Amino acid sequence: MKLPFTEPFKIKMVENIYRSSRKQREKWIKDASYNLFNLRSEQVFIDLLTDSGTGAMSDKQWSAMMLGDESYAGASSYYKLKDAIKELTGFDFFLPTHQGRAAENVLFSVLVKEGDIVPGNSHFDTTKGHIEFRKAEAVDCTIDTASDTTAWHPFKGNIDLEKLENVLKNNPADKISCIIVTITNNTAGGQPVSMANLRAVGKLSQKYGVKFIIDSARFAENAYFIKLREEGYADKDIREIAREMFSYADGMTMSSKKDAIVNMGGFIGFRNEDLFRQASTYNIIYEGFITYGGMSGRDMNALAQGLYEGTEFTYLESRINQVAYLGNKLKDYGIPLLEPFGGHAIFLDAKRFLHSIPKEEFPAQALVIELYIEGGVRGVEIGALMADRDPVTRENRYPDLEMVRLAIPRRVYTNNHMDYVAATVKNVFDKRYEITRGVKIKWEAPIMRHFTVGLEKIIP
Ligand code: F0G
Repeated sequence: MKLPFTEPFKIKMVENIYRSSRKQREKWIKDASYNLFNLRSEQVFIDLLTDSGTGAMSDKQWSAMMLGDESYAGASSYYKLKDAIKELTGFDFFLPTHQGRAAENVLFSVLVKEGDIVPGNSHFDTTKGHIEFRKAEAVDCTIDTASDTTAWHPFKGNIDLEKLENVLKNNPADKISCIIVTITNNTAGGQPVSMANLRAVGKLSQKYGVKFIIDSARFAENAYFIKLREEGYADKDIREIAREMFSYADGMTMSSKKDAIVNMGGFIGFRNEDLFRQASTYNIIYEGFITYGGMSGRDMNALAQGLYEGTEFTYLESRINQVAYLGNKLKDYGIPLLEPFGGHAIFLDAKRFLHSIPKEEFPAQALVIELYIEGGVRGVEIGALMADRDPVTRENRYPDLEMVRLAIPRRVYTNNHMDYVAATVKNVFDKRYEITRGVKIKWEAPIMRHFTVGLEKIIP
């Protein structure tokens, strides 16, 4: 018998979690204005809000923290991290930042100016936020297949090269800040981008003289999918694949809270010294001196170690198979979801799940609320609420995909927890015909409203 894959770790410390009653949850979610970001974590049983900063660090990471060098300038922890980044990405220059969006803020302070265009594949909301905040425009060039939740494509996060080339052809190069490719494509469902696609984007960026930046939050999961699905990569090591992915780009932004399995941290990688120098000024203003930029020495040590652990094949195999375990269970129950399953989360298709709720009443948000009330499971809406209003017309934007994301923290939950989550979703699915109305907005922020929005349930 072929021995199955399993987690390449055992559990040394546990954190207790508590189940609440349905009655308690109904009160708590009402008090939270039906916004799950407003819940206290003790009010949540299984927390699938995000896979960002929620992973479990290893004994090696915790012990590396004890060796952190907290010197203001030139700390050994900085050099340890620099070596890890060079080895795994090939980038010679880097700046530490406190998280991914801070990396975007620093880099875009150099690259993005008013009236610019930033083509990419479904920019993440903070990425888009930083672009729109600077009065520039994020142009989505993702392949059309990505918006069909049932279509099978091995690299559904890919850039449509024709769409990208049209943007590059029809605009002067100095109007295009950079091309941003997000791996894996979170907003489109944690879908990978192929090596061939990255290579082709690299070629286009050179042809048109535009910089190519990789938003790398889940680069290791992307490399895993390339190894499994792309011809010619089966025998290659994850780190070798990662280095090749980055070899086509001019730089990277990283939220280390995902694939580097730390609770806080980020960085920017650069190939070119000149861009690194320009960004350094902003790093000093916004984050901190260039050898710590928003991170303590101990955090840089944990991150250096986490980068190695997050690029181990056996770890990635158990991680991505756990996501698929939940996905397959839900599929067996007939739940409408996005396929193929992504690397970090399962995405429920709220339009098909709660089809009688009109889009103006935010069906995905209605579904997250129901899942919480049913089982204390916290997911997140990835749909019209998150998409914000159009910055010019101030009308709601209704993206093609209206989804609930169940993101799985790394090395945190067992498959028993996944069974519990699947049962919660099934119970709500069985009651779907009774759920006919959604929510309306009581209060919202002008940008990135989903974090703080106040909502009211519409009573049928
Ligand atoms: N890029 C991508 C693709 C992301 O998914 C995120 C964060 C960021 C950038 C920003 O990084 O949070 O460290 O500032 N995504 C989290 C999520 C919040 O839940 O998907 P950050």
